[in-house]
Amino acid sequence: MKKGSEGRENETKRARSKGQTVAKPSSDVQVDPVTIEAPCGQGGSGGYFKCGNSNGPRLWRNESMRRAKITVIGAGNVGATTAHWCAAAELGDIVLLDIPQAGDMPKGKALDLMQASPIFGFDAQITGTSDYADSANSDVVVITAGIPRKPGMSRDDLLATNAKIMGSVCEEVKKHSPDAVVIVVSNPLDAMVQRALQVTGFPPQRVLGQAGVLDTARYRTFLAMELGVSIEDISALLMGGHGDTMVPMPSCTTVGGIPVTQLIKPERLEEIVDRTRKGGAEIVGLLKTGSAYYAPAAASAQMVEAVVRDKKRLLPCAAYCDKEYGVGGYYVGVPVILGTGGVERIVEIDLTEKETAAFANSVEAVKELVASMAKLV
Ligand code: NAI
Ligand code: 2OP
Repeated sequence: MKKGSEGRENETKRARSKGQTVAKPSSDVQVDPVTIEAPCGQGGSGGYFKCGNSNGPRLWRNESMRRAKITVIGAGNVGATTAHWCAAAELGDIVLLDIPQAGDMPKGKALDLMQASPIFGFDAQITGTSDYADSANSDVVVITAGIPRKPGMSRDDLLATNAKIMGSVCEEVKKHSPDAVVIVVSNPLDAMVQRALQVTGFPPQRVLGQAGVLDTARYRTFLAMELGVSIEDISALLMGGHGDTMVPMPSCTTVGGIPVTQLIKPERLEEIVDRTRKGGAEIVGLLKTGSAYYAPAAASAQMVEAVVRDKKRLLPCAAYCDKEYGVGGYYVGVPVILGTGGVERIVEIDLTEKETAAFANSVEAVKELVASMAKLV
């Protein structure tokens, strides 16, 4: 299947999975008005739209051929870089949205990124805006809006501020993209994704958080550096919350199929895990003016890809766990199957005694964070 058809296909599958009737494309479908010459044909199954631009007329079979629509909210470091990775991978059309106070900044970044397209060879419409109407009917919404923790600011100050931002953003997402899969990136991640679920009221399968893909990528990077092997040969998994309590899973970490415990001594492995836990802080310490964004954005784009291409990737994501792992209704990092419906399945694996204790500790930390948030919003 061509990439362009996947967005509508995904929307259709999601609607069907919710038992909704799926309307056939009609002639009122939204196509960039600048490029439309004149509608022709019925727009129903098999209908054609004759479209033209400065390069001459072109035929689009029907609206089901459209690209996936990806909105990234927050056009700062993580948001703009997520847009960059998504564009380079030709995942769909992208809307980069920020607050009106950001002025034309999102438009500038969008245009700049568009101008990379002839060099990288991707076709995508990239729009910068502060108007949620431009984000309407997105297939995927990535939320990176928020403020980073500043000197003198307490953890609760950050929690309160970002929870309010998340609340206002999610009201708009609910209104304009009611069928979207929402990927939350803003921190503190495990609380922000819970807030997104509360405010959108979307099914939990369509609201998830990015943390585990990044944390696991950091862990894999450090393991490859340690062993002097290709990153391609390292397969690993981390579970739990995004922060100091993340849970390494040595039993799920292999190098070319060999258990990592046969290649690295336990004490050294613990040092690598510890560096991974503090991976975000290490980058902050080096950058001094902000936090990591290349790897967080790459991780977010990988999750977007899994959704828009219905890849059924098995990835560690912050997913809503109720009975799963006995969590009882909180977001926590677990392995999931990620596809067009969002979290299509939470994969439950047996944990060792040590892993069970570490996971329980991580879940407690998430619960405390969510309880603090509840008092602040
Ligand atoms: P940044 O400061 O560069 O960008 C944040 C952007 O959000 C700014 O452009 C700001 O104007 C915008 N914004 C603020 N309020 C908004 C609203 N109501 N609506 C739309 N946009 C709004 O920050 P950066 O580095 O991009 O980080 C963004 C968030 O992602 C932070 O909360 C950060 O801690 C988090 N993060 C999470 C990671 C993860 O693995 N989950 C990794 C890295 C960062
Ligand atoms: C990170 O892990 C700050 O959450 C961000 O880099």
